[in-house]
Amino acid sequence: MPNIAVPHKTDLARLPTPIYSLARFSRKLGVNIFVKRDDMTGVELSGNKIRKLEYHLADAIKQGKNAVITFGGIQSNHCRATVYAARKLGLMPILIHSGEEPEIAEGNYFLNKLAKAKTFFAPDVDFFNPKSAIKEAEQWAVHKGLKTAVIPLGASDAIGLWGYIGCAQEIMDYTNEKGTVFNKVICAVGSGGTYGGLLAGSKLYGLDSEIIGFNVLGTAEFLKDLVSKQLSDFEEKFSVQVGCKDDINIIDGYVGAGYGETWPELLALIEEVAVEEGIILDPVYTGKAFYALVDQIKKGQFSEGDNVLFLHTGGIFGVFPHREKFIVE
Ligand SMILES: Cc1ncc(COP(=O)(O)O)c(C=O)c1O
Repeated sequence: MPNIAVPHKTDLARLPTPIYSLARFSRKLGVNIFVKRDDMTGVELSGNKIRKLEYHLADAIKQGKNAVITFGGIQSNHCRATVYAARKLGLMPILIHSGEEPEIAEGNYFLNKLAKAKTFFAPDVDFFNPKSAIKEAEQWAVHKGLKTAVIPLGASDAIGLWGYIGCAQEIMDYTNEKGTVFNKVICAVGSGGTYGGLLAGSKLYGLDSEIIGFNVLGTAEFLKDLVSKQLSDFEEKFSVQVGCKDDINIIDGYVGAGYGETWPELLALIEEVAVEEGIILDPVYTGKAFYALVDQIKKGQFSEGDNVLFLHTGGIFGVFPHREKFIVE
């Protein structure tokens, strides 16, 4: 690791998260599949976002802020993690969701209401350019005498990348302790910070792994550009050359009909993983990434001796709004 001034972080996640073998799927597919349980970073703070929020919230507190504004879809895991992380630190959580307010509060949205997050709905908001929606939330906060910090989509930016640089270090520690070298690390790609952080971390720690992402929204091209921009910002902000933009490997083809949209074989695989491995994947992120991994293995894109590490990034509460689509007797 080069000499970089690593920013301060809050201590909210349960780390390191466990890594273990998925014995039955490995046997079935002929590739050694391991899972890193980042869904176990906590309970209400579960999932990947908390690693990034540890840095963002420390930054907000350092700047003397007492409220945070962030945004995402109504079932955003990032919004829920931000709400509970903010509450744990005594900060006021303010959210902006796309679309209209639903009649029934389900899943993550229900949990946000439980913690009394202030919520705004902006029907046509573009989360990659949410300026006008943020303005309304900021005005409300000023009126309440709050000092706000804005956390970007999915907490994915130069600061947020540190979260998954830390995860890469944990993977390295596991390899040093157990001797298992993961030649491939797999994750879902949404706002890019998990993938970008892992990639940067793999270079900084000298991990001998190909980092492969499967986009769950947009296109691979769009997300490659986004990750590349986050890496450039990181290099500039922390005066370091990571030099990994040419290694960005995001594979398209598993979004389905769109972000959050499912298909029968995806739901069937989620059920199979629950039955065979006792793990809950979500239909929006981890289910799609695992589906993509299985599909790529079946298409011969992986070799028999490969040690593949699948990063379970959480999303468990996102299962509930989809429950009627599953075949549960
Ligand atoms: C459960 C889950 N997995 C994966 C992702 C994707 O991570 P990132 O936004 O860092 O690309 C997200 C968020 O978007 C998520 O909530």
